[in-house]
Amino acid sequence: MGTLKELIWGKKPKAQPSKPVLVASTPKPAPAPAPQPAPAPKPAFDWSASEAFQQRTYPTYEAYTEHQKSKLSKLDLTKYNVQFSAALQERLGKVLNGFKPGGNVLCLGARTGAECEAFIKLGYFPIGIDLNPGEGNKYVVVGDFHDLQYADQSVDMVYTNALDHAFDLEKIMKEVTRVLKDDGLFIAEIVDPAVRGPGDYEAIWWKTLGDVIERIERTGLTVWENEDFEYPWQGRQVIFVKNGNRRKLAVETVGS
Ligand SMILES: C[S@@+](CC[C@H](N)C(=O)[O-])C[C@H]1O[C@@H](n2cnc3c(N)ncnc32)[C@H](O)[C@@H]1O
Repeated sequence: MGTLKELIWGKKPKAQPSKPVLVASTPKPAPAPAPQPAPAPKPAFDWSASEAFQQRTYPTYEAYTEHQKSKLSKLDLTKYNVQFSAALQERLGKVLNGFKPGGNVLCLGARTGAECEAFIKLGYFPIGIDLNPGEGNKYVVVGDFHDLQYADQSVDMVYTNALDHAFDLEKIMKEVTRVLKDDGLFIAEIVDPAVRGPGDYEAIWWKTLGDVIERIERTGLTVWENEDFEYPWQGRQVIFVKNGNRRKLAVETVGS
């Protein structure tokens, strides 16, 4: 079993055994050092680890936001947006069946807005926020999910599949619970760490799905639904409710 870092980034080349320290001996000319293999390429930022979570260590908050913003220009999302939006519409359609459409939905880390399109097709009124929504985005405005620009208790549903980009998960959850109305839903699509490790832009990683679900529940939300999904990556869709009565939710409607 390797260390946590080895499990994530692979084993580094073995360090040369350190030479014994010579104490008070006659100095000899040092032998030429053996050629060393080139160091393995380092990820942009290193990781710190705790029992259940690892966090990418950024030197400053600005370094974090700049790193997150830099991803968009490297992507062609033409196909992804169509496929993700359709897949999300299908699974949300099932789970929100029976809810009155028309409620507002705040989509966190929504990039160019594929999730907003899915909610629109289901009859909701979504708005996305992202550090970098790109230019001319009609679904998503600039915002930071650690510091939402919206009023207390003003949102029917919050959706995100970007919790693994959190700098401070507790802060995000405080904001989510602040803006949600009572009986409001928090729909989190959470990557399953049993299937893969973090990529170049994830800022936090959990050991198990249970660890992150439990951490979200500690902010005062209750799990209402729980379903695995496969696209665009394998994960679990968990629907939490704020101060809600699950039975009441099943028969009534959000935003009514
Ligand atoms: C993996 S992408 C997901 C994008 C989108 N939800 C989708 O599936 O197409 C994560 C997104 O979170 C955004 N992001 C990262 N940190 C953020 C923050 N602090 N506030 C808002 N958005 C953030 C990134 O810019 C990126 O667009």
